[in-house]
Amino acid sequence: MASIAKRLEGKVAIITGGASGIGAATAKVFMEEGAKVIIADVQDELGQCLCKSLGSKIEYVHCDVTMESEVKNAVQVAVSKYGKLDIMFNNAGISGDPSRCIVGSDNESFKKVLEVNVYGAFLGAKHAARFMIPAKRGVILFTSSVASLLGGETTHAYTVSKHAVVGLMRSLCVELGEHGIRVNCVSPGAIPTPMLINALNMNKKDTLEVLCKVGVLKGTLLQVEDIANAALYLCSDHAKFVSGVNFVLDGGYSTTNMSFTSALNAHAHAHAHARINNHA
Ligand SMILES: NC(=O)c1ccc[n+]([C@@H]2O[C@H](COP(=O)([O-])OP(=O)(O)OC[C@H]3O[C@@H](n4cnc5c(N)ncnc54)[C@H](O)[C@@H]3O)[C@@H](O)[C@H]2O)c1
Repeated sequence: MASIAKRLEGKVAIITGGASGIGAATAKVFMEEGAKVIIADVQDELGQCLCKSLGSKIEYVHCDVTMESEVKNAVQVAVSKYGKLDIMFNNAGISGDPSRCIVGSDNESFKKVLEVNVYGAFLGAKHAARFMIPAKRGVILFTSSVASLLGGETTHAYTVSKHAVVGLMRSLCVELGEHGIRVNCVSPGAIPTPMLINALNMNKKDTLEVLCKVGVLKGTLLQVEDIANAALYLCSDHAKFVSGVNFVLDGGYSTTNMSFTSALNAHAHAHAHARINNHA
């Protein structure tokens, strides 16, 4: 029986923030689809354990994405070991101080969120491009968020950072398109990874309960594997003409707004209750 071709056979990929959550799930899927993967993260123990459990085609490199020398080194590790870099997935991110009030906002936390989520993504793209431009091929993918399309659902810093990542992606799409390099974003809705659970200060069960209630698409929940599969498509040759896209996975959440209908229903409900009480 003929074997099914793997979608990333022979490709070399770096995944920042690959020790946990979306990055870890993507590392697994990329590997299963034939890629050699380098996980770049700051959680050394977790990253090393993950690599041990996944086998020989994956390795861990300590890399704080805000440190240019460490990002440069992660790219260098890929190129020295495998002679090329096909995929740079700039996925590392933080949520920062949970305060949503500008007056009480922590200035240092605001700067840190932009430093990791935007400057870190910029450095990843920059050092990947140094090798992809002469090779005349490559894929750069960023993890943005549904927060790149909405205001008011998360902190100012996080919202700003994820809008900026989409801006960076669009800007790079033009420059790097000249060299045959595709640049896209994947934008997830909420998933109970350590980042979200910590940001909400809730346990996983309660987080899932809330997510079940707010979802437009019922009967299912977004999982890290869904983002990994979207990343797989965007990084594979199946998406060879896809560039400049902010690929949103939120079950329709950001394109709908049911607050008017909800308010209407709540109003009708309250009036029905008042009528029943008056008749009693
Ligand atoms: N979970 C969600 O609901 C959600 C929704 C939309 C977007 N995102 C985005 O997805 C991406 C991945 O987050 P996740 O949900 O998998 O969370 P996670 O906490 O499970 O993973 C984030 C990873 O990034 C790493 N990281 C943090 N700072 C770093 C740095 N300076 N250098 C290198 N690595 C660093 C962490 O160590 C961690 O392993 C982030 O960019 C996040 O903003 C998450």
